[in-house]
Amino acid sequence: VSSLSEIDPALTRARELTLKHIRSGPALWIKPPGDTEPNHPDSRFYHPWYPEHERLLKAGWKPFEPGRKWDTVVLFGSRQKEENRRLLQASRSLSGDLVYFVLPNEYGAKSLKRELSDLTEEFVGRKSRLCVVPGGVDGDPELEATEPNSAGFESAPGLFSWDKVDRGSQLLSEVLAEERLRSPVVDLGAGWGYLSTGLPEKLEVHLVEADRRGLEAAKVNLSSRTAHFHWADGTDTGTLPQNLRGKIPTVIMNPPFHTHKKADPVLGGAFVSTAAWLLRRGGVCYFVGNVHLPYQKIASHFFSQVDLLRQKDGYQVLRGKV
Ligand SMILES: C[S@@+](CC[C@H](N)C(=O)[O-])C[C@H]1O[C@@H](n2cnc3c(N)ncnc32)[C@H](O)[C@@H]1O
Repeated sequence: VSSLSEIDPALTRARELTLKHIRSGPALWIKPPGDTEPNHPDSRFYHPWYPEHERLLKAGWKPFEPGRKWDTVVLFGSRQKEENRRLLQASRSLSGDLVYFVLPNEYGAKSLKRELSDLTEEFVGRKSRLCVVPGGVDGDPELEATEPNSAGFESAPGLFSWDKVDRGSQLLSEVLAEERLRSPVVDLGAGWGYLSTGLPEKLEVHLVEADRRGLEAAKVNLSSRTAHFHWADGTDTGTLPQNLRGKIPTVIMNPPFHTHKKADPVLGGAFVSTAAWLLRRGGVCYFVGNVHLPYQKIASHFFSQVDLLRQKDGYQVLRGKV
């Protein structure tokens, strides 16, 4: 078994431009693609995404330790503007001298560049932009900072539906409120913990999520209840606590449906397979998906019975029994 979570090809492309222009010497690399080689033995990396973090460790990188100042910080941007702003601000306070910020054009490089009033240099190439800005700026250096979102929960830019509740998740939550659930519950791909926040307090929950920032936010959102947090890869059961295998009566999830740009039912299929791995005999998995994705068919390979519980606004809530 191994991860089905892929390296972002747009970032590997942008990396070529970065390697061509950055100065040599130790640097802190933030969110480099997982197949990047360390540029220097004293360089460090930070990646909140579990499969990428693991790949980078295998490639020989040492992880980031807070408290050290860097002359050079290299930041790989994402599709989400607020996340880019947040991490750029943290990078500028972690760096004492220079920040290299690289962004593929399709992630909004041009518009972000307009926000960089003190841009010192810019390189353009391979459908990407590399912007150089000064460090030494006072600000929050915390890479996993969380903040309240507009729905009143703790969250962080970069997470799925970070600033509002997703419509599909809300529909699943409505259905769960009408079911009698048994404890413990695994919330697979938990994000900032929305689905778990709606469960009766007496149920013990296990949250599995690849993005550490999601778990940090969920710890705040679920502080009043018994909850366990697992930074792991939901597509690779080898990364989950092995003592959960076949022991869980209830799994709830809104599986990921995108790999970078493309819609990808394979990822959702892997989550269904992981749910079946977790469930004990007679256990049930509740999940929601877009009606256009073939979840009912996929689920029928793993569960002895699959029921459609609700269909609304383009989403289906399904229940699979092992
Ligand atoms: C559609 S979102 C649902 C989030 C949350 N449960 C909700 O309902 O709002 C899917 C979640 O799965 C997470 N995810 C995607 N791939 C993953 C993987 N390989 N391992 C663990 N979590 C993953 C994403 O980060 C995201 O939080």
